[in-house]
Amino acid sequence: MTDRLVTAIGAFALPNPIICGSGEPVITEAGIRAALAAGAAGVIAKSVNERPEGAAQLDRAAYAFLAADHRADPDGADLFCRSGLAPYEPAAWFARLAALDTEAAATSRFVAASLVLAGHDGAVRIAGLARAAGLRVFELNVGAPHAAEAAAGAIAQENDPAALAILVGRVRAATPGMQLWVKLTGLSANLPALARAAAEAGADAVVMMGRFMALVPDLDTLAPVLGTAGAYGGPWALPIVCRFLADSRRAVGPGFPLLGTNGARTGADVARLALAGASAVEVLSVVMRDGFGALTRILADLDALLTTRGLTFAALIGRAADAQQGYAAQSRVTARWRAFVPPETLAE
Ligand SMILES: Cc1cc2nc3c(=O)[nH]c(=O)nc-3n(C[C@H](O)[C@H](O)[C@H](O)COP(=O)(O)O)c2cc1C
Repeated sequence: MTDRLVTAIGAFALPNPIICGSGEPVITEAGIRAALAAGAAGVIAKSVNERPEGAAQLDRAAYAFLAADHRADPDGADLFCRSGLAPYEPAAWFARLAALDTEAAATSRFVAASLVLAGHDGAVRIAGLARAAGLRVFELNVGAPHAAEAAAGAIAQENDPAALAILVGRVRAATPGMQLWVKLTGLSANLPALARAAAEAGADAVVMMGRFMALVPDLDTLAPVLGTAGAYGGPWALPIVCRFLADSRRAVGPGFPLLGTNGARTGADVARLALAGASAVEVLSVVMRDGFGALTRILADLDALLTTRGLTFAALIGRAADAQQGYAAQSRVTARWRAFVPPETLAE
């Protein structure tokens, strides 16, 4: 593969746009190494926070792949689950990640620390630990979908732009010189305002969007799949993420980096997220289903897609977002709806 795939998050150059997102596959050093060996430009290591309840929840985690018709199917592209956080003491985990990051830097790649928000003070303290460990990238997830279902205080969402700006400003002050990426929720329609608040408070990039909360009734047991509500994502989410990327690009301007996540399973999906404004893409569910080889496959697919079209990845970023028009700008065509209704509607 060539320069066709290179990208950058601001001044932070990456050899390609595929990042292994935070989650169970990268909860061990071996998993992180495997993601890098598969070709990922970087890894967001499994998140921690300051609350033992968040880590304890990992022992109550459960996972189900679902087909597009919502039936459990190990080959399904949708993932429905409840997860928890890494049961590690943050300073010790970050020391291990920093060693991996130093190794990754030799090939222009990275390993990042990640925190799922519980409270502002804890986030600031743990961000400082990531910096002290010598890590270069810190991802602050303020939108984990499990907040409402987790034990009280274990996980929080920050969906208020003013409060987010205060939090990001404090975390920024604790992480001088580091890349600070803020991962936003999928459970708010306020993403452009949240992206702008994070950017103005000093974030280097915003990642969007977190998965959605769902309940999946099972027709055989007549009970919910996994017995609870859970976080839900799949290829169906990708166009929704694209819309929020495009809207956020307009809100923060094309110079501020956005990363996409939620629903990417193929190289074509990554290209679509880039066209909507993503400078890089975090993928996880497809790694849980197919193994780390999914990262290699996505990279090869993307490279082939770009080669066929004579494009570079960088040339994709924001192209569809910038071509997006408003409804009022569309030409009028009388009764176009007639082609989209059953014949009975037109009988009279
Ligand atoms: C089982 C599971 C665990 C996850 N754990 C975390 C986490 O600890 N921290 C985090 O920021 N995101 C976490 N995520 C979100 C993923 O990093 C990713 O953003 C999301 O799954 C959407 O991308 P995908 O469709 O490629 O899976 C998790 C997702 C799943 C499915």
